This record gives sequence, C-alpha cells and structure tokens, in this order.
Amino acid sequence: MDEVSYRNSADRTDQSVRQADIPHQARIYNYLLGGNHHFAGDRNAAEEALAVFPDLRIAARENRAFLRRATRFAALAGVRQFLEIGAGIPTAPALHEIAQQIAPDSRVLYVDNEPMFFVQVRDLLVGTEQGKVSCLEADLRDPERILSSSVLRETLDLTRPVALSLLAVLHFLEDDDDPYGIVERLLTALPSGSYLTISHPTGDFEPTTEALGEKFRSRGISARQRDRTQVAGFFRGLEFVDPGLVPIHTWRPDDPILADVTEAAVSIYGAVACKP
Ligand SMILES: C[S@@+](CC[C@H](N)C(=O)[O-])C[C@H]1O[C@@H](n2cnc3c(N)ncnc32)[C@H](O)[C@@H]1O
Repeated sequence: MDEVSYRNSADRTDQSVRQADIPHQARIYNYLLGGNHHFAGDRNAAEEALAVFPDLRIAARENRAFLRRATRFAALAGVRQFLEIGAGIPTAPALHEIAQQIAPDSRVLYVDNEPMFFVQVRDLLVGTEQGKVSCLEADLRDPERILSSSVLRETLDLTRPVALSLLAVLHFLEDDDDPYGIVERLLTALPSGSYLTISHPTGDFEPTTEALGEKFRSRGISARQRDRTQVAGFFRGLEFVDPGLVPIHTWRPDDPILADVTEAAVSIYGAVACKP
C-alpha cells in the first residue's frame, strides 16, 4: 500500500488471517492499553511478557500519558504541525485530537509500517475543517521515503516548525539500522523552532527489563533497550525543554505520581527538545 490510499477492512482480511498467529508490537501494545485490535498471537505474547514483567501495562499507560503532555506542550508552544512516526493503532485520545483541542488548525501526519494501523485509523482520521490529518504507511528506517512522500508535502510545510514524535519506536531499530543517523536525517529536514519528542525503553532501573527484552526477542520482536547516555544521543544539537531527559512519568506530570508508578515499573526515558 502506498501513502494515503485507505482501503476497507475486507481488503486486509487475507493478510490479517495470516497475521493472526504472529505477534506484532503494534497489536501487543494495543492489547496492553485495553484496545480491541489484536489477535490470539498478540494476546499470548503480551501475557507472556506480563508474566516476566507485570508492570508492562503501567509502562504502556505512562507512555500514552507522556505523549499527551508532550503534544500539549508543543501545541501550547505554538507548533501547528505534527509528525508522529511509529504512530501505532490509534488510541484515544490520538495525537491529533490532543493538538487540535488546543489549536484546531493543527496539521498531523501519522506514519507507521504496520498495515493494520491503516485499517483501523480511518474512523479516527477526522481532522478539523482547518486541520488536515493524514497517514502514510512507511518505515522509519527509510526517512528519505517519508520526507519525499507527496502525502507529507500535502500535509506539512517543512519551512515551518514541526513537532516530530518518535514514541516507543526507536527501540525496534537495531544499531545496525543507524537509528542516530535516521533521527539526524529527519531533523535536518525540519526548520529551527521544531521539536523532537522521544520515549525509549531502558534497562537502567532495578529490577531491570532484561527478561522482558529477551521474551520479546524470542517472539521475533526486536526490543533494543538503551541507557540514558544512549537515549540522550538522539538529541544531539538540540536544546532540552525542562526537565530534560527523565523517566517519562516525571516529565511535567499533571497529577501526583501514584506509588506503583516507579522508575523500574515504567523503565522508559523521555524528553522534548527544540531545534535551535
Ligand atoms: C509500541 S507502539 C507505539 C505507538 C505510539 N507511538 C505510542 O507511543 O503510543 C510502536 C509502533 O511503532 C511501529 N513501528 C515499529 N517499527 C517501525 C518502523 N521501523 N517504522 C515505522 N513504524 C514502526 C509499530 O508498528 C507500532 O505501531
């Protein structure tokens, strides 16, 4: 499928049947968040992961909460264009809903390489009259394709600031994929005043998420945890927004942090930074 050609669910049936037993990170995440876009293989993989890391649902929920706060921050800072790569199967509130609640003219492009995302996303793709919302099926490992796509050019004006969100997606890239080069390439295309938001799983806290990573890898899902220095490397040349790179639940929390939401339970770093 290319760019913004949405098809109906029936077009995907054969593929979906084939996918039913093969777990996929997008659907596992959807299951953890209480969504209903997953198959038996996804549920089994998620339950296996929960058996070795029972706090995984807390981590997933905190990641969405970080997305909400970071998006709201960018919209309140005046950004009106959003690019989310590795957007996932839509979870309410989706990024465009958060941005458009603050600024109805916000324009949003979602990118993901999971075809099911495009089956499910159509109903949610209701922008405002002023704020276009589009989707692109593409791989983060091919930034040139994303940047040169017609749907990107029709949705975003790259001469004006963009908030680029790479949330819980960079850990699917191995070092051999050159994740740092990919982020740098994307940022090169964005003007000064743009923002980068990243959330990234880590094994920095005790008890570590090592067993969880192994569990996912045994199911064919790469899950490359990175330590704080490695995650900080994605922000080279940018200016961190206060409080910098921190466990995501401590990034400008709206409410008092609950007792079970600990660094180890969440095990995800996150930050928002501005391109000077
Ligand atoms: C854990 S979900 C995160 C969804 C959303 N960003 C969030 O934080 O709530 C990861 C998403 O990244 C997508 N993904 C994984 N590898 C990708 C790649 N190489 N290119 C594009 N999307 C990718 C998956 O399909 C999945 O939808």
